[in-house]
Amino acid sequence: MKGLVIALEGQDGTGKSTVINAITGYFDEMGLDYINAREPGSTNIGEKIRDILADKANKDMDYHTEALLFAASRSELYDKVIKPNVCKGTSVILDRFLLSSLAYQGIVRGLGTDEVMKINDFFLEGFRPDLTILMDLDAKKSYERLKKLGELDRIESLGEDFQEKVHLAYLKLYEENHMKLIKLDGTKDKESLAHEALDEVKKLMKEC
Ligand code: TYD
Repeated sequence: MKGLVIALEGQDGTGKSTVINAITGYFDEMGLDYINAREPGSTNIGEKIRDILADKANKDMDYHTEALLFAASRSELYDKVIKPNVCKGTSVILDRFLLSSLAYQGIVRGLGTDEVMKINDFFLEGFRPDLTILMDLDAKKSYERLKKLGELDRIESLGEDFQEKVHLAYLKLYEENHMKLIKLDGTKDKESLAHEALDEVKKLMKEC
């Protein structure tokens, strides 16, 4: 059987890691093989690209360059991590994936979702995650959390207004029904979030 690919999405500070931990905890309990990956990064080249993207010295980065660098990191991840693991039956739990580029670069940076999709489909060959979980939380709350987590990177330090634009962009993508996308209410407690996410994952497993 092929492995599943599940991606967590939402602006920074929405609680993606809480849900990732719940899913991997369930996989552990069931004795299922999985690996975690984060975007950008999780490959040798991807981590180098992550450093360039996070570096505050690169404030003047052109938005097309930004979109292409995220795509380049994703191409490495798809080729070196996602494809081989899925083929051997290992699931891949992703901290961000394609929807991040549609929200941040496509909508908020204004490059267009179709254009961003095009540069990604250049290497994704039509691949989409089996499930994408969007953490829905307003930017006031998520930004409060984010600031407590430590030093902010180049994109995070663009401020609360930017994060609210990202939040609205995600909601727009949700309304437009991009991919197999479900939305969880980020104001709920950890247990409820874990429960709701696992219900979806279990449904997915039954379909296989
Ligand atoms: P993230 O890994 O969530 O940051 P951290 O681990 O420091 O919390 O992502 C880094 C930043 O990159 C984040 O602000 C979201 C942004 N991003 C995009 O703009 N486009 C993308 O395609 C991806 C994957 C991330």
